[in-house]
Amino acid sequence: MNAEQHGPETLGPEDSKWLGEYADVHMSVFGTPLRVMDHGEGMRIWDVDGNEYLDFLAGIAVNSIGYAHPAWVKAVAEQAAKVAHTSNYFATEPQISLAARLIKLAGAPEGSHVYFGNSGAEGNEAALKLAKLYGRTLPGAAPALGGKPARIVALTNGFHGRTLGALSATWKPAIRKPFEPLVPGIEFAQAGDIYALHEAFAATGQGPYGKGPVAAVILELIQGEAGVKPLGADYVRQVRAMCDAHHALLIVDEVQTGIGRTGAWFAFQREDLSGGITPDIVTFAKGVAGGFPMGGMIAFGAKLSALFTPGSHGSTFAGNPLGAAAAMATLDVIEQEGLVANAEERGRQLRDGIMATGNPLYVSVRGRGLLDAVELAHPCAHAAMAWCMEHGLIVNAVRADALRLAPPLIVSAADVDEALAILRDVPADLPDD
Ligand SMILES: Cc1ncc(COP(=O)(O)O)c(C=O)c1O
Repeated sequence: MNAEQHGPETLGPEDSKWLGEYADVHMSVFGTPLRVMDHGEGMRIWDVDGNEYLDFLAGIAVNSIGYAHPAWVKAVAEQAAKVAHTSNYFATEPQISLAARLIKLAGAPEGSHVYFGNSGAEGNEAALKLAKLYGRTLPGAAPALGGKPARIVALTNGFHGRTLGALSATWKPAIRKPFEPLVPGIEFAQAGDIYALHEAFAATGQGPYGKGPVAAVILELIQGEAGVKPLGADYVRQVRAMCDAHHALLIVDEVQTGIGRTGAWFAFQREDLSGGITPDIVTFAKGVAGGFPMGGMIAFGAKLSALFTPGSHGSTFAGNPLGAAAAMATLDVIEQEGLVANAEERGRQLRDGIMATGNPLYVSVRGRGLLDAVELAHPCAHAAMAWCMEHGLIVNAVRADALRLAPPLIVSAADVDEALAILRDVPADLPDD
């Protein structure tokens, strides 16, 4: 594969044709797609002009078992032939089995319950709603006693989704500000600064300036969209202690980090990311169903779970049997093929290998398992991403100065070597974004 084949200025005729039509009929929220894709298999995907790419993005950490895994295809086809959708007037076996399995994988205590949605944002919407109900049970929030509405604290640089509730807890001003005013009672504390969180808690109180109690803190253990930045185990342990001291919930958003991606089923199970804490709510999505849209939350324990009662929340598609069958097949493959351990091993190979390329463009690497980022010497990530695509490798410009690498968990040592060979040759003097 050579640069001429893949350069944006030399897009193939089919890519060009379809991209023209795309722009005519799609709202431009995603900008112009890089290519029009046709089909995938394993670690590879092909565009409509027949160009092949080794995929180190996996649909943004979604395609955990690669493309068209035979076990996944079989499970989805069989479930589609059986029953694809029922609504929540009815339950199905895959949905029940999946909920039980996720609770077990998370090591959640007896009495824990799952709510299914269809995306990461919906998982977080559910978590925020549950936290709001929890907040109403806190003494300082009782209106009859002159209480004030409970608050939710999110962190700077956090990303929790684009729906209005999840967006209210999402930091990036450029995507949040145009939609303000958003959900009231959600505020931000500086990520990594425990004193900032202390101040947020300390604002609770009586009198005209006192605020309502904090119902929950929501955070990602690795801030993915912010550039794959771990919060730090010590900080997370302190956050947990502060939540405990103030009877606040800790919501861990594992939409990007969950389902094996960081080398553990959930990132909170990694001592070096979480300090060994247990969350109250875990949200999940992306990798859980191997490409089928699914998300949700696990509420830890019976008492918290019981705050959702009939009518509290819902969605027509929630827990849809087709998605649940896709998720069960995905979890089977992850288990049977040892992909959680593979994520850890291949991640180490990838991070070590990047620094060993000696390419002066690479300043450092960070991340865990197969959720990694390369810090660049200057802000040329989009040019680097385009160069890699031209050479048959998909990576992601998560920030102007960082490339995100999040391949399917099935990635082999040979695939990593192949990606490294391309990354080694990325010109260090690419133009800045
Ligand atoms: C940590 C985190 N939470 C929530 C979301 C939102 O997920 P979705 O795009 O499926 O709504 C994302 C998406 O990137 C994410 O990384």
